[in-house]
Amino acid sequence: MRKHIVAGNWKMNNTFEEADELISNIVDALEEKELDRNTQVIICPPFPYLEMATDYSKDSYFLVGAQDVSTEDKGAYTGEVSAAMLKSIELEYCIVGHSERRQYHNESNAMVAKKVDQLLKNEIRPIVCCGERLEEREADKQFEVVKQQIEEGLFHLTAEQFKELVIAYEPVWAIGTGKTATPEQAQEIHAFIRNLIAEKYGKEVAEEISILYGGSCKPSNAKEIFSKTDVDGGLIGGACLKAEDFIAIAFSF
Ligand code: PGA
Repeated sequence: MRKHIVAGNWKMNNTFEEADELISNIVDALEEKELDRNTQVIICPPFPYLEMATDYSKDSYFLVGAQDVSTEDKGAYTGEVSAAMLKSIELEYCIVGHSERRQYHNESNAMVAKKVDQLLKNEIRPIVCCGERLEEREADKQFEVVKQQIEEGLFHLTAEQFKELVIAYEPVWAIGTGKTATPEQAQEIHAFIRNLIAEKYGKEVAEEISILYGGSCKPSNAKEIFSKTDVDGGLIGGACLKAEDFIAIAFSF
């Protein structure tokens, strides 16, 4: 059975005190009710809170991820954070290629490929985002766009490396808009992605990869979306900022 994953992408939210409170509420909620063993909760706070989060995670049932990583090893890259640094504080995951990085920081598929390589070299599992913009969906180009993102960002990997990935399909028009893809729309693209992987790496690899849905996922719609065959969980933005909502989503399988 593929792993179910619910990952919280905090984006640029919360002060240190708020971060501390949110994580400690998540710890409490996970203590209260036992999560299914096949479900993995991951939180991805901003860089300054990663170490606090990894400290908390040692006594709880969640893992910690970063939201981005540098394409480079080390050196004169002001403001950047390397994969080796993330590894040195024992991070297990890192989001790569989020649409906000692509949009506001001109992150290309080639950069996504380099970041994925950096993470794999440091034994951190990449959560790789893909997804079409509204105008691309309206022009019925969603399959083409997602295919190109996956091929250019990931298909240089070996099958062994590919197995370390988590993929998140996030239609840009659904992120932070309150507009969710229908469970059928999500399933359609998830199956398409799994099929692309199967064609390149074989069915066995494709069946192992967790593919998450992201875009206005919340407690009221998570169950229906997660019930689809090829949807293995969610990458949660807005709703992960309230421990109660985030944990409710983790219990939606
Ligand atoms: P959202 O964000 O849940 O607020 O739509 C999801 C994401 O960007 O990962």
